[in-house]
Amino acid sequence: MPEAIIIDTDPGQDDAVALLLAFASPGEIDLKAITTVAGNVPVAQTTTNALRIRDLGQRGDIPVYRGAEGPLVFPLETAEFVCGPDGLSGADLPAPASEAAPGHAVQAIIDLCRAAPEDGVTLCPLGPLTNLALAFRLAPDILPKVRRIVLMGGAIGLGNITPAAEFNVHVDPHAAAIVFGCGRPIVMFGLGVTLQAIASHDQIARIGACGNAAGKAVSGMLTRPRPGGLGSDGHPMHDPCVIAFLLWPELFEGRDCFVAVETGDGPLRGRTTIDWNGRLKRAPNAHVVSAVKAHELFERMIERLATLP
Ligand code: RIB
Ligand code: CA
Repeated sequence: MPEAIIIDTDPGQDDAVALLLAFASPGEIDLKAITTVAGNVPVAQTTTNALRIRDLGQRGDIPVYRGAEGPLVFPLETAEFVCGPDGLSGADLPAPASEAAPGHAVQAIIDLCRAAPEDGVTLCPLGPLTNLALAFRLAPDILPKVRRIVLMGGAIGLGNITPAAEFNVHVDPHAAAIVFGCGRPIVMFGLGVTLQAIASHDQIARIGACGNAAGKAVSGMLTRPRPGGLGSDGHPMHDPCVIAFLLWPELFEGRDCFVAVETGDGPLRGRTTIDWNGRLKRAPNAHVVSAVKAHELFERMIERLATLP
C-alpha cells in the first residue's frame, strides 16, 4: 500500500530532485499534494518552480498549493546566492504550463489530513516549517491524522547559513519549535547526514546519460557552480534524503533524541540542540538520522530517475 504523503517544499534544486524521486516511486509513494513555502526563493517563485518540476515529471494529476509568504515572526531570508535568481539554476526548465490549485497550502494540508484516517498522512517538509506550524495551530484536530513528519532541517554540528543554524530552521525557528513540539513522530534529516549525500562525478554523469528530460535537468543542477562556505564542495542532496528514507530506510542510521530549537534573534537563532547522549533527561521528540550509505542511495536514485519521462 503506497504511503500517502504531502511534500511541503521551497524549490530549490535539491527539492526538485526530491520531487522527481517521489514522482518516480508510485509503488511506494502516493503523493497527495505539493505545498509551497517561501524559503530558497520567495513563495511566488517556489510555486512557479514546483509547477515547472511537476511539468518535467508529467504529473499534472498532483495539485500544487501556494503557501506562506514568510516566517511566523522574523522577516523572510532567501538563498538566491546558492540556488540562483530563479531558484533552479542549472535545470534549464521552461515556464510552467499549468497553474497552482486554488486555496492556500495551509488549508490544503488541513483538508487532506481531515479527510484521511488516523495516522493516514505523512508530512514531508523540505523547507521552512511555516505551513506545518500554521496548520497545527489552526487545526490541532489534524495531529492524530499525521502518521509521521519526515523533514529536512537542523544540524547536530555546524550550520550552513550561520555557524549555528541550518537554513530551513534559521528562516523560521518559531515554526520549527512548534513542529518539534507537536508530539507526532518526527524523522529529522539535519546537515549531519545530508552533507554525506553527495553524488560522485560518475554518478552525476550517469544521471545525465539517462536519456530523459529529468536526467538532463538533474545533471544540470548538480554540475552548476557552487558558492563556497556551505560545508561541502559538491551539491549535497539534502531534501532527497527525506524521500529516500521512505523508499529505503535500510540505507540510514539514527537515534531517538530530544531536540530543542533556539528561537531568539541572536547568533544562535535556529540552532537545533540535539541531545545525542541523553544528558538532558528529556523525552526524545525526534529520530535523528546520522548516517547514510550515500553511494548506494545514488545508485538506487539513478535507477528511479531513469524511469521518468
Ligand atoms: O539547508 C538546506 C535546506 O535549505 C534544503 O532544504 C534547501 O533546499 C534549503 O531549503
Ligand atoms: Ca528545500
